[in-house]
Amino acid sequence: MDVSPEKTATVVVEKLFSALDTDMRAKLDVTVTKKAFTIKVQEAQVLQYRAALQELTNHLQAHGYNTTTMEGSTSSFLEKVRLMQTSAHRQWRANYNNDDEDGSKNNAEKTVCEVGFNAGHSALLWLLAGATRVISFELGQYTYSQLAAGWLLDRFPGRLHVVPGDSHKSVPAFHAMYPYERCDIVLVDGGHTTEDAWDDLIHLKEMVDLGPDARKGHILMVDDTNYLTVGAAWAEAQARGIAIEDGEVRSHYATENYFPFSGSLHWNGGLATEVPEAIVPNWAGSLVYGRYLP
Ligand SMILES: C[S@@+](CC[C@H](N)C(=O)[O-])C[C@H]1O[C@@H](n2cnc3c(N)ncnc32)[C@H](O)[C@@H]1O
Repeated sequence: MDVSPEKTATVVVEKLFSALDTDMRAKLDVTVTKKAFTIKVQEAQVLQYRAALQELTNHLQAHGYNTTTMEGSTSSFLEKVRLMQTSAHRQWRANYNNDDEDGSKNNAEKTVCEVGFNAGHSALLWLLAGATRVISFELGQYTYSQLAAGWLLDRFPGRLHVVPGDSHKSVPAFHAMYPYERCDIVLVDGGHTTEDAWDDLIHLKEMVDLGPDARKGHILMVDDTNYLTVGAAWAEAQARGIAIEDGEVRSHYATENYFPFSGSLHWNGGLATEVPEAIVPNWAGSLVYGRYLP
């Protein structure tokens, strides 16, 4: 389901309302009904994502990987997942006049650029949310990343490009080779030192349409700003007028009974599942969203 929840709700609810007689219509509040339906569609999208994550996890496990000790991913945080899904639909609408949600009429290249592929969880989210292209820069230190990329490519042929190598070099090199590539959404979620996050922020800026004739807007996201290191890079980017923050989500870590689950329950060197339940709610991961400034 890669249609925006708001649009789906508008289409469905208006169709239903038009079938009702005037008396019934007067008794129902169309705005409230649309809002309620939008929330239902959003939840369905989270569930769809979770089901796909389960398949991906099964695939990695079937190849002998222990998915509980993998590096963490945005999928462990429900509020991050919601924000990312909602932002994607908002961005397609803003940039591509989405009466044509799937981009088939206007040949839109709905492009997400991210540093940090890991097990492909964020890439999967973007693809399910309608990205026609995900360019994912990945160091390639984990063999499971390749397996996950293969699984995603089977399901989304031609829509995922994993660029291997250290992003300090691979992002500028990619931009030099493909200077016209432009990102609608940028996610910084690679190396977590201040220098890593800073360089990724600076280099990815080159891949965003910011010029005076910019035809497209963009959303910039930085994950794990609760890490002092990443937070410092983000603060510096704002202080220097490189980017501006529009908001932040803080999310609890997903517990077993709370979705979306993640194959990865690894956190700060420990396994989340081994931590007493009482402590888990105090853990929060934050993801900021904003924009680059021209
Ligand atoms: C937190 S994980 C990414 C999670 C992913 N975005 C998601 O939400 O599913 C970080 C990833 O960044 C990669 N990484 C670390 N340093 C990097 C670098 N210098 N260049 C490219 N990738 C890097 C790691 O190998 C790891 O796979």
